[in-house]
Amino acid sequence: MNSNNAHWEKVYQTKNFDSVSWYTSHLKSSLSIISKLNTDINKSIIDIGGGESTLLDDLILKGHTNLSVIDISPSAIKFLQKRLESHLDKIGWYIGDITDYKFSDNQFDLWHDRAVFHFLTDIESRVKYKNLLYKAVKKGGHLVIATFGPDGPLKCSGLTVERYSAAKLDKELGTNFKLLGSKLEEHHTPFNTSQQFLYCWFQVL
Ligand SMILES: C[S@@+](CC[C@H](N)C(=O)[O-])C[C@H]1O[C@@H](n2cnc3c(N)ncnc32)[C@H](O)[C@@H]1O
Repeated sequence: MNSNNAHWEKVYQTKNFDSVSWYTSHLKSSLSIISKLNTDINKSIIDIGGGESTLLDDLILKGHTNLSVIDISPSAIKFLQKRLESHLDKIGWYIGDITDYKFSDNQFDLWHDRAVFHFLTDIESRVKYKNLLYKAVKKGGHLVIATFGPDGPLKCSGLTVERYSAAKLDKELGTNFKLLGSKLEEHHTPFNTSQQFLYCWFQVL
């Protein structure tokens, strides 16, 4: 287990799902962007670093049947599997590091990432992430990504993050992705603090 795996395992072994700074009862912005993109309920959606979030629960409630999640923490995945035990067949479960993983080409229609990409502070990891994303999502498919915004915190879960404006993220992703929209949002943590998030949505070209 490398130090990143160990870090996240410890987080999920020692903290309740609703007592982590990124907790929100429903990922309302993500859900609204996914529906704005007219994502049909049979389209294949993956949640990158889904942790213990309720995105999959809410997508299932909306009728989605073709979902996947990957997380570096086996404990987070186990927790989600228990919570979603009556829907296991609708979800592809993956445990691993997104910077060192393989999916099939064109496996997904939509790639969702809330608060994972911003941990990739070295260029090599970002290149690996972007290469996997570009191969795994169908051309014409979508990317919905949330990072800390330009005025967001410098750290999350004790780890240094990279903060983005829409222009910076657009530049980072490069010409294979077309920026369709963006918004800034204040996230209210369970500790009564506030964090600026940036949501961007892209089409894969
Ligand atoms: C800040 S949390 C966000 C969780 C969830 N997306 C949400 O919005 O509630 C970051 C998540 O990414 C996972 N993670 C961190 N680095 C990862 C990596 N390299 N590959 C896969 N998952 C990772 C962590 O285990 C954690 O669940």
